[in-house]
Amino acid sequence: MNSEKIEIFDTTLRDGEQVPGCKLNTEQKLIIAEKLDELGVDVIEAGFPISSPGDFYSVSEISKLVRNARVCGLTRANKKDIEAAAEALKYARRPRIHTGIGTSESHIKYKFNSTREDIIERAVQAVKYAKSFVEDVEFYAEDAGRTDNDFLARICEEVIKAGATVLNIPDTTGYCLPEEYGAKIRYLKENVKGIDKAILSCHCHNDLGLATANSIAGAINGARQIECTINGLGERAGNTALEEVVMIFRQHKDLNLHTGINSRMLNNMSGMVSDLMGMTVQPNKAIVGANAFAHSSGIHQDGVIKNRETYEIIDPADVGVNESSIVLTARSGRSALAYRFKHIGFDVTKNDLDFLYKEFLKVADVKKEINNEDLHVIIETFSRKIV
Ligand code: KIV
Ligand code: ZN
Repeated sequence: MNSEKIEIFDTTLRDGEQVPGCKLNTEQKLIIAEKLDELGVDVIEAGFPISSPGDFYSVSEISKLVRNARVCGLTRANKKDIEAAAEALKYARRPRIHTGIGTSESHIKYKFNSTREDIIERAVQAVKYAKSFVEDVEFYAEDAGRTDNDFLARICEEVIKAGATVLNIPDTTGYCLPEEYGAKIRYLKENVKGIDKAILSCHCHNDLGLATANSIAGAINGARQIECTINGLGERAGNTALEEVVMIFRQHKDLNLHTGINSRMLNNMSGMVSDLMGMTVQPNKAIVGANAFAHSSGIHQDGVIKNRETYEIIDPADVGVNESSIVLTARSGRSALAYRFKHIGFDVTKNDLDFLYKEFLKVADVKKEINNEDLHVIIETFSRKIV
């Protein structure tokens, strides 16, 4: 069976940039947009043009800059938003308007004080209006995760008739379980008339730590676009992390799904976004965290030194990391110590290692981590003792 492509829709500059403290200026956004294009994302959601003159300008400048990816602007389901997005996107080679409305009972009742029929009508009008400016229109059913599947199918059917090319099914509140989200996508695939004319898209939030799992479940059940951000940034607990979905499809060839991302750029991309947004990446973050390829327990270190694959499922080079690291702590073993000594130019014998290891443990019980300077001091102590 041929592998099918999953389109990567990056929303670092929209959902990611909404995070308090992550605000970027236009120059910084352009740097990120250019790199995202080089990384191979299919769509760059550049911003929400009506939200501020600054965001409008950024979307417009990004539209001029980007060569390959589609450039997308977010709107609510009203004329003014759509007009602003169309204007900001007018220089884009491949513009997309992303419009939509809340579809769950709580959104219909509390946000809009409205009815299901009225929501369908507004959705259809918004898609038709967006379609009068651009060919490519994505519709989002906000809070689809908590929207009843029958109603979701109805609204999807109507917006496809109105011209929507992509249907975004956001789990806005990060509520769904993977099985439930996957079943929702399958339900739409099987029950929406005209579904073959549109692509289903996953947009999952991470409130319960399930964003990536839900997106993968969506793709397995027929979605062909995943909306995600670098480092998983986004509202509250964040969005699906781009680097995670890319590497899941790469490592699990059995899924028969792939992306067009150059995974060797992932580590640099993560560092660049973290620096520009001033948001540190947690060390244990999958794929791009500082500890993602660091081994500190003696048992693991011994295995990795003998053969990397004993404790690593990803070759660090595949995500742009030079090599795995062997971190020395009081939990490290002799083979790790010998390995690190060799790294700094000392090929120690087995007998010497017995003594050195005892000295090492004395220091390691006091310090959290032993660095190369400490190793030099240990070697000097040893040399003095044997003279
Ligand atoms: O989480 C969400 O529902 C969104 C939409 C605006 C697409 O970000
Ligand atoms: Zn979102």
